[in-house]
Amino acid sequence: SLEAETKSVVAQFDFTDEQVNQGVKEFIRQMEEGLEKDGTSLSQIPTYVTAVPNGTEKGLYMAVDLGGTNFRVCSIKLNGDSTFNLAYSKVAIPKELMVAKKASDLFAFLAREIKHFLQQHHGDHFEQHSRRRMTSSSPDGYKDEHVFRMGFTFSFPVQQIGINKGYLIRWTKGFDVPDAIGKDVCALLQEEIDKLHLPVKVAALVNDTVGTLMARSYTSPGKTGAILGAIFGTGTNGAYVEKLSKLKKPLAGEYDNSTGEMVINTEWGSFDNQLNVLPNTKWDDALDKSSVNPGVQMYEKRVSGMFLGEILRLVLVDLIKDPKISLFRDENSNSNDWHSTTTIAQNSGIYRQWGLDTSIMSVAAADNTPELSILRQELETVLQIYAPSLEDAQAFKAIANAIGRRAARLSAVAIAAIVLHSGKLSDPAYKDEPIDIGVDGSLVEHYPYFRDMIFEALRAVEGIGEEGAKRIRIGIAKDGSGVGAALIALIAAGMESKSA
Ligand code: BG6
Ligand code: GLC
Repeated sequence: SLEAETKSVVAQFDFTDEQVNQGVKEFIRQMEEGLEKDGTSLSQIPTYVTAVPNGTEKGLYMAVDLGGTNFRVCSIKLNGDSTFNLAYSKVAIPKELMVAKKASDLFAFLAREIKHFLQQHHGDHFEQHSRRRMTSSSPDGYKDEHVFRMGFTFSFPVQQIGINKGYLIRWTKGFDVPDAIGKDVCALLQEEIDKLHLPVKVAALVNDTVGTLMARSYTSPGKTGAILGAIFGTGTNGAYVEKLSKLKKPLAGEYDNSTGEMVINTEWGSFDNQLNVLPNTKWDDALDKSSVNPGVQMYEKRVSGMFLGEILRLVLVDLIKDPKISLFRDENSNSNDWHSTTTIAQNSGIYRQWGLDTSIMSVAAADNTPELSILRQELETVLQIYAPSLEDAQAFKAIANAIGRRAARLSAVAIAAIVLHSGKLSDPAYKDEPIDIGVDGSLVEHYPYFRDMIFEALRAVEGIGEEGAKRIRIGIAKDGSGVGAALIALIAAGMESKSA
């Protein structure tokens, strides 16, 4: 029956306290491995950022942000008192550019968006200075004090060799522009900016997690700043502050070692690609095999927003195809073709790869009405499933919740590992201090109870427990990566003037 089958599916998405604990141990092991050598599954990328802000930073900067779904352009005025003012524009990244043949197609689009933003928000400045740059006889137009310093948030794995230089390692989150791999993404963007004669210098390259960490530290400076910046959105990843003494692999570029620390971009989306501890249902396996990057980002494929809806879709299709199970079944049909025995429109997203958007899982989790009327309505309008019964909706909700809950408990694995690795919970110098974590992304922002489910798992981790979990604060770093990129552009400007 549908009920029994739903139970069995739900059980396959269980991720027990014991598995959480095993996961944490393995995560710490893979973190340490990644600090020692290149080519490990947790990349542990040095970012050349050696300090977190304290809220007193000041100045006007630009930031652009190529995440997984949107491209954002902003200008940020840091006021020096933990506050900032921000102007921004946001566009969805056209799907065809995510898989463009030439890298320049994608980057030219970004440069055009920057131009529009400047015209709209900084029109006078733009008019005056783009002309000056065109006529400037200086071989290096960037010495011009009227050039905006821009932080470039580029949310993909990059081998960084300096604060504004880094080579793309691989695409993630469904992007696939092979031509860009191995190239310096700052140079690719600067080239297109220069073609349009914009008064902008790409001053800093920033992963969104690093930006989130910076922003959280700027806006809520505690005794220690945030220890972790994490994204749970289209993709998932985290950046944390590491002691330089633990970073054993050689670094390609120069850095300031006065703080004894450096921010590390873990690229935890690829945690445990070898599946030592990650759960692996047949649907996880099917998702991976038909993705553009099989075998990598295995943790991300179980945790983040781009993938949860697809896992759910694959489960549902299996159930719908099974003649013994009555899910979304048209009781009046006696056709032999399984498609026409359902109440689902032929062109429903259910039948297309990526056709079930994770946001409907949020609707399911939030619908506490006795008849699940909100979810049933949504199934009709969004997925063209007609007149779903209460039993249909209950099955949908139970399975969706199980997938979402597993994602949150897996998220707790990474968070717990980094908290434990920092040693702050047991360090008497930080006694009673909160352990602060900044987060951003559509999943943690919009999925109901996501943080509650994370905390439930954190309390079960050896070495954290009830008491430890009480000290952990997980706060949204709103507009995080824009502000963070501006802060890093500021740090970069400081470095330029030191070396000048
Ligand atoms: C945004 C940040 O708020 O969140 C981006 O500005 C980040 O840098 C994004 O990539 C992650 O969320 P999502 O859900 O858009 O992937
Ligand atoms: C993917 C990217 C990573 C980014 C994360 C969140 O995992 O590889 O760089 O931080 O998505 O956007």
